Amino acid sequence: MAQPRPEGKKSVNYPPTCRLSTNFGKTCLPAPITRFILGARCPPRTHPQARGSLVNQRVLVTGGAGFIGSHTVDLLLGQGYHVRVMDSLQPRVHPHGWPRYLHPDAERLQGDVRCRDDWERALPGVDAVVHLAAYQDYMPDFSTFVNVNAAGAALLYELLVERRYPVRRVVLASSQSTYGEGKFRCPEHGIVYPACRPAEQLARGDWEVHCPDCGGPMEPLPLTEDRVNPHTAYGISKYAAELLSFNLGRKYDIPTVNMRYSIVQGPRNSFYNAYSGICRIFTLRLLHGKAPICYEDGQQLRDYVNVADVARANLLVLEHPEAVDRAFNVAGLTGTTVNEYAQLAARVLGVDLPPVLGGAYRFGDTRHTVSSWDALGQLGWRPSVPLAETIAQYAAWVREQPDVEDFYAESERRMRAANVLRQAAR
Ligand SMILES: NC(=O)c1ccc[n+]([C@@H]2O[C@H](COP(=O)([O-])OP(=O)(O)OC[C@H]3O[C@@H](n4cnc5c(N)ncnc54)[C@H](O)[C@@H]3O)[C@@H](O)[C@H]2O)c1
Repeated sequence: MAQPRPEGKKSVNYPPTCRLSTNFGKTCLPAPITRFILGARCPPRTHPQARGSLVNQRVLVTGGAGFIGSHTVDLLLGQGYHVRVMDSLQPRVHPHGWPRYLHPDAERLQGDVRCRDDWERALPGVDAVVHLAAYQDYMPDFSTFVNVNAAGAALLYELLVERRYPVRRVVLASSQSTYGEGKFRCPEHGIVYPACRPAEQLARGDWEVHCPDCGGPMEPLPLTEDRVNPHTAYGISKYAAELLSFNLGRKYDIPTVNMRYSIVQGPRNSFYNAYSGICRIFTLRLLHGKAPICYEDGQQLRDYVNVADVARANLLVLEHPEAVDRAFNVAGLTGTTVNEYAQLAARVLGVDLPPVLGGAYRFGDTRHTVSSWDALGQLGWRPSVPLAETIAQYAAWVREQPDVEDFYAESERRMRAANVLRQAAR
């Protein structure tokens, strides 16, 4: 069982004992997450020792044609790095090939992280790797998550070790999904890391997470880096990549950092990608004169982080000596319900369309997941872009794009056909 740790202190080095369980650990007692501002407790610090270690060197960004990747590429180039992008141009994300937004100064290489030959073309002459390429979806093609996300990370380390490429840092994209259903407090039974909500419970429209001991209501708590509990193939594949990268990195002296992003939003979030989330879905619906549809009862809590803040976080841990061998949450400013999000999006877009609550739900979704950014705050990072501004940025970008359709209808059809998207009894 983990030792109690005061909230807001530097996070433990990664990884603590892997506790992939549905047991309850009585760990620390952090502040509740409902209606809180996580960052208020942790003022940012500067990191003068952080700068300069890799500047003017070459960074390989896998998945660099994607949403987070392309913003990270822009920031790296702006800081004086040379950048090479390796991206498979996954057709579902990039149906038209290399995106126009990708910076012309980035060297481009079309390649797949599952392919040894492609890594061998990408790695020579590289000083650091930001590994963002991944398979993300809600569909039940479980093996693809493991093949791309876990085996892809293993192949990277395999080649770094085998070929002795002198890479001085690897930053990997992990995810909030490694926390699974999250962290709660039962008034009677203390801290609980629950399993995902049972299918029968969701089918009758009972949305909240109940204490597995007494069945009573529980209070959601902020997610801290000290414990994971993934339950989706995607979350498990991301945690497998963390375990592989940290253990191989430590063993072979390859300094490694993992970044557990919350829901990332902003311009360039692909329209075509079913996984690309609430901002795209609500914005596109509202711009097409359709009301946003909230799954469950719309009271789910989430945190949303702007992509520019995420790119800054990637740069910080690429350079900071104290980042090595650790996993960091990259989180938003506040917890927001889906319903509040829908109302905010309508306000920002100037559309009078209240959200629809029809009892549809995605099987496997979490109920309340909001991450704490205290640990990354200790290195000098904090989220800076308010949610309304992120939505406005995204909407402005959408309006500049030609032929924007409400693409979500097609992904919704696919999710219904695969029984991922379901309907609760009224
Ligand atoms: N966007 C989010 O909200 C979010 C949240 C948590 C974690 N992440 C992680 O951040 C990373 C970047 O996500 P994103 O939102 O920018 O996604 P994205 O889909 O926009 O970008 C991913 C890129 O990876 C490429 N790619 C996919 N499979 C590949 C393969 N086999 N080989 C090489 N390239 C491949 C795609 O073509 C795409 O350009 C991913 O690892 C993702 O799991 C994203």
